Amino acid sequence: MSEDLIVGVIGAGTMGLGIAQVAAQAGHRVVLFDARKDAVPAALANLGDTLARLVAKGKLSEEQARTVHGRIVPAEELGAMASCGLLIEAIVEQLPVKQELFRALGSMVGPQAVLASNTSSLSITAIAAASARPERVIGLHFFNPAPLMPLVEVVPGLATAPALPLELHALMLRWGKSPVVCKDTPGFIVNRVARPFYGESLRLFEEGVADMATIDHVLKQQGGFRMGPFELMDLIGNDINFAVTRSVWEAFFNDPRYKPSLIQQRQVESGRLGRKTGRGFFDYSGAAAVPTLQPGPELATAITERVLAMLINEAADALFLQVATKEDLDLAMRKGVNYPKGLLAWADEQGAAHWAAVLDDLYQEYGEDRYRASPLLRRMARTGTTFY
Ligand code: NAI
Repeated sequence: MSEDLIVGVIGAGTMGLGIAQVAAQAGHRVVLFDARKDAVPAALANLGDTLARLVAKGKLSEEQARTVHGRIVPAEELGAMASCGLLIEAIVEQLPVKQELFRALGSMVGPQAVLASNTSSLSITAIAAASARPERVIGLHFFNPAPLMPLVEVVPGLATAPALPLELHALMLRWGKSPVVCKDTPGFIVNRVARPFYGESLRLFEEGVADMATIDHVLKQQGGFRMGPFELMDLIGNDINFAVTRSVWEAFFNDPRYKPSLIQQRQVESGRLGRKTGRGFFDYSGAAAVPTLQPGPELATAITERVLAMLINEAADALFLQVATKEDLDLAMRKGVNYPKGLLAWADEQGAAHWAAVLDDLYQEYGEDRYRASPLLRRMARTGTTFY
């Protein structure tokens, strides 16, 4: 996987164009294809604007911008991918459509070519099964916007050749990214471990513990999160955020830990999707929302501890189930969703016994499986061990 590797990108939408830019900036020739004829020219025009902005900001010289743009070649047909050594798919998020593409690619490219999918929610193993060469298929999950977000989740499927994750990890480092390797499980790392940030905050609101602006305020002030959960759901779009939660919950056979929120569902039904519709949890037509309640220190701590305990439990359980290493679990949350600290390093500050006790109190109070502490956290509490 040297610099003369030609990268094929299929799908010239938001993610495909971003990935093409990253690959071109890393020095590769890129072949870009989209099923919609006007998508690639439109994407290349967009790229021109993006690169011009980078030149204006002094981040690229005019010559560098021209070189990067010139490295991306539009493809009229999927057959143009035959010469590529690494293909990255960023098409519509539908399993049958992706399987059809991987079936076609599998019989088109050379035996050493790598077939990667940028899926956020589908099983890499299921996508790979459709291609004639599942051992060359892998997940390469970039975050939006791909040129700016450092995290890439590298996801081998069940049949992926063992050397492939390491090769792609090394390549992503060369592209200036922060790669992590994780198992092919629903939500991979970030979309799984981050669920309680939204879900538990929605529960706090639903129970009337505090209003949304207050919960946001507390998690930023006391938790150190860059954005509060409600403003973040409004930014992501409640339709998208709700769909991710629902897909993770369904993929885990309705595990109550990931149960979607009725409050958010109503929000989606009413078309209050967030910033993009001018109204979500907050109204974006006027001034920014201000907390209506100045939380006392006890309430602020209770909110923060409940959300953090659920996040830490999720990360601990992912480690327990060997989804990724502790280092990669922590790196993913810092680089994929800008958490101020890795959750496992954070857990060590007060120790596993503290977090297991917070969860046990919740479990006692609610009697819901949602609050079960991970066996790993419980074991560490018993033995007094830390993650690091
Ligand atoms: P998008 O809708 O912006 O772009 C998808 C492009 O794929 C469109 O231009 C469409 O014409 C093209 N396309 C659809 N079917 C095709 C086919 N069979 N062959 C060739 N081209 C085809 O979508 P976006 O947001 O770029 O997402 C693409 C993939 O990346 C999805 O799998 C999504 O889950 C994943 N993803 C999206 C993120 C996001 O924040 N938007 C983040 C990380 C992953």
